[in-house]
Amino acid sequence: MNTILVGAQWGDEGKGKIIDVLTEEADIVVRSQGGNNAGHTVEVGREKFILHLIPSGILRRNKKCVIGNGVVIDPVSLVAEIEGLEKRGIKLAGRLFISETAHLVLPYHRRLDEAREHRKGTNKIGTTKRGIGPAYGDKAARTGLRLIDLAQPKVFSAKLRERIEENNAVIESLGGEPLSFPEVEQSYLEAGKKLRPYIINTVVWLHQQDEKKKRILFEGAQGTFLDIDFGTYPYVTSSNTTAGGASTGSGIPPHRMDRVVGVMKAYTTRVGEGPLPTECAEVSDMLHAMGREFGATTGRARRCGWFDAVATRYARMVNGIDELAITNLDGLDTLRQIQVCVAYECRGKRLLYPPNDAEELLHCRPIYRKFAGWNQPTCGVRHFKKLPVAAQKYLKALAALTGAKLRIVSVGAQRKQTFEA
Ligand code: GDP
Ligand code: IMO
Ligand code: MG
Repeated sequence: MNTILVGAQWGDEGKGKIIDVLTEEADIVVRSQGGNNAGHTVEVGREKFILHLIPSGILRRNKKCVIGNGVVIDPVSLVAEIEGLEKRGIKLAGRLFISETAHLVLPYHRRLDEAREHRKGTNKIGTTKRGIGPAYGDKAARTGLRLIDLAQPKVFSAKLRERIEENNAVIESLGGEPLSFPEVEQSYLEAGKKLRPYIINTVVWLHQQDEKKKRILFEGAQGTFLDIDFGTYPYVTSSNTTAGGASTGSGIPPHRMDRVVGVMKAYTTRVGEGPLPTECAEVSDMLHAMGREFGATTGRARRCGWFDAVATRYARMVNGIDELAITNLDGLDTLRQIQVCVAYECRGKRLLYPPNDAEELLHCRPIYRKFAGWNQPTCGVRHFKKLPVAAQKYLKALAALTGAKLRIVSVGAQRKQTFEA
């Protein structure tokens, strides 16, 4: 059984937490796209982990983890993440495998990301400034450097020198500080040496595991509406965050995938700029006052709003979502009434799917259906039937409006605050 897990909204749906739960029934967890723009939180007992590049499955002993070819890797940041986990007693040797064809995020990518955002002013995307867009840009332009290059210091240094020269000219034209070749060379070669034991041909290895019937779980990063093709372009990230990305980013073909699990919050959040039709100050203020909804990577306050079924209906369609995991139900515990967007009204028309133009989305007005709140804590509940009836009805409605089967419910950040529907 191979499973793809994706975010059905704008990222931060609680994918890390659900991956941690589903890893129990998997052998291998694979990241296939994105980079350290991701921040996946897993809480186990008193311990809290935030994973950026390493699959969240690493927290379960004996499970193997892969960073696939579709991921963009900042090697210095990856080494820091590996060392941070090892200090906390998580052993990675023999458990972590990194693709030699994954592209590198280099310091000029971060500088370009920052300089471009700065120049855009109020039109900025609100990126994580991790250099993700420029790194994928180089990959598509065929000017990227890969881990396979880093493993050959002479080849790497020659290519790096040329790339730094060209990029410094662009950085300076944007008003940024140029980079020093020897400094970058040294820090990257050092990180490359530390990563060497983990680097393999992950495509061949994954196929061998698949032939042995090992169960593979693909950990999506970001979410459907941050997808470079299906998201609210240009306010998106630079990879395919939807289910197809799991195949292209790992080399495991589509026909070997058995099911797609979509993760969504019981409400909506987004961090960064771009349209968010159901955004609502009342929901944002309530969640922020509870100390929730601050970004795991950048610490920025997330924008919040009511659940948007127009969005999740589209997410179900493009990802082929079979089963849903709904998280953060407890965030709505104090409300007497809850709204859910069931359609948009746009220039006099009723829309059941979001328009492709982000500008047009700004003109969409949510049409809401009202639901009774339950106004009592759910964080201690461990069985669906023990939830307040209004909460059961609400969850069933979200699944029906999205068009997929409800499988998992999460009522707290802890591993144990999760149950089957
Ligand atoms: P990811 O990027 O999709 O893995 O999600 P993040 O980790 O960035 O953000 C999700 C946040 O919600 C984290 O702080 C999680 O610990 C937390 N979380 C996940 N599920 C639940 C839940 O059901 N209830 C509560 N209270 N917090 C949750
Ligand atoms: P996880 O995996 C939420 C957002 C940024 C910005 C846009 C582009 O934790 O769900 P980028 O740095 O990728 O060029 O930024 O995408 N973004 C995320 N938002 N969760 C994430 O990852 C995100 N990764 C990127 O805020 O709006
Ligand atoms: Mg996150």
